[in-house]
Amino acid sequence: MSVQLNHTIVHSADKKASADFLASLLGLEVQPQFGPFLPVVTVNEVALDFADADGPITPQHYAFLVSEEEFDGIFGRIQDAGLTYYADPYRTRPGEINHNDGGRGVYWLDPDGHVLEILTRPYGSGS
Ligand SMILES: [Fe+2]
Repeated sequence: MSVQLNHTIVHSADKKASADFLASLLGLEVQPQFGPFLPVVTVNEVALDFADADGPITPQHYAFLVSEEEFDGIFGRIQDAGLTYYADPYRTRPGEINHNDGGRGVYWLDPDGHVLEILTRPYGSGS
């Protein structure tokens, strides 16, 4: 099998603001505009193509697997930005992170209400 997720569209009210928001927190670059899209590409070459929405935005969920060292940097930037973060996707535990699967994870919202997550261990990988 050689099927890999290659790209997906992230609807946003302001694609530049949203792409900059994500890229700056994750330590990634916003790529040059491609058609109507502003891509942010992860190390496994999945492009999140930010696009301006022409109507209401339905919040989606985007999760990023990171190293423990990267978690420290990203979480530090989340805190430095004064963003509210949560230990759970239902946002019932503000100001906390989780230790699921023996790693660390945290959730926060992007400017359009998309639920972003970083985690250091994939779901179900813990003993
Ligand atoms: Fe998730």
